Amino acid sequence: MNDSAAPVAGKTGLEFALLAEDGPARRGLITTAHGPVKTPAFMTVGTAGTVKGMTTEQVQASGAEIILGNTYHLMLRPGAERVARLGGLHRFMNWPGPILTDSGGYQVMSLQELRKITEEGVTFRSHLDGERHNLTPERAMEIQALLDSNITMVLDECTPFPATETEARESMERSMRWAARCRAAFTQRPGYGLFGIVQGGVYPALRRTSAEALIEIGFDGYAVGGLAVGEGQEAMFDVLDATIPHLPRAQPRYLMGIGKPADIVGAVQRGIDMFDCVLPTRSGRTGQAFTRRGSINLRNARHQEDQRPLDPDCPCPSCSDYSRAYLHHLFKAKEMLGPILLTRHNLHYYQELMAGLRQAIEDQRLDDFVAGFARQEAEGDI
Ligand code: GUN
Ligand code: ZN
Repeated sequence: MNDSAAPVAGKTGLEFALLAEDGPARRGLITTAHGPVKTPAFMTVGTAGTVKGMTTEQVQASGAEIILGNTYHLMLRPGAERVARLGGLHRFMNWPGPILTDSGGYQVMSLQELRKITEEGVTFRSHLDGERHNLTPERAMEIQALLDSNITMVLDECTPFPATETEARESMERSMRWAARCRAAFTQRPGYGLFGIVQGGVYPALRRTSAEALIEIGFDGYAVGGLAVGEGQEAMFDVLDATIPHLPRAQPRYLMGIGKPADIVGAVQRGIDMFDCVLPTRSGRTGQAFTRRGSINLRNARHQEDQRPLDPDCPCPSCSDYSRAYLHHLFKAKEMLGPILLTRHNLHYYQELMAGLRQAIEDQRLDDFVAGFARQEAEGDI
């Protein structure tokens, strides 16, 4: 513990305590109305009011403290007003812990071909029934409040890659004007907060301008968006190096949509506190498992008579109770238990990785932890 351990009340109602630092890396605690979140944290993705294939008890047992929901999916089905009438997203999906919701702009742009961005917001047709919808900064705040989200994200545009500096500037500046409208429309409540999102493509000067514009408006936390869109890990780390020094030390930092285990490790070393990614759940459904010795595909024929557990160092029930041969069989036979068991393992793997990072920061031995992580990944599956 150092002298910065005292919780810092966010400008709108979320507390963040910085408990330890190891170089730029941080160990912290976010306090929400639905409980605490230890950082660095990995947020399991529960897009449409479910972590696909998992009960919330299984999600909790993996070590997850906070999950992510999506404005875009939930506004279309079952509808934000309906979720509110049913008691909010926590009660609706039986997840009592903290929830962060993404604002919808990113999902509209990545999932919709028929969409239009104007100064007012985004207009799109539902992928479900073709009906027209408008998402403005004000409506994005209203929807996330109806869902009872603990951490609301501003509506932004994830600048496509590649983009010229002029394109990235115009997109970033509009996102900053939307961020100010979001802040004005957001209703403060204790234990709830609003995060701004830094944009600016791969251009360091734009990233700095964006960070400064958001700080001027004032948020409970700061996300870095517009990454993992094809720029590669080196360029992504360069953007973090150009952005993080301009973010407040006393508030949480969230790298959106990231990532592979090695991306998370590198970003934690640079001072990121929060992550989300579909990788553990999505790849669990297709037969890809993350292990301490890199990732392996259970559909590969080399597993068909392998009686060993998926990952001998993993304490999860999928590893203690089942063999690789059985998991291989489930995927070959397209049995639904395969994706369920593998998703559960992958969620445990990600949470164990985060717990290891948090402990290493507390013990001031993050460099050793990272060296050990890299060595084991390089050795590969044996
Ligand atoms: N998820 C991944 N990247 C982004 C981004 O740039 N903006 C938002 N809102 N969500 C994201
Ligand atoms: Zn396991």
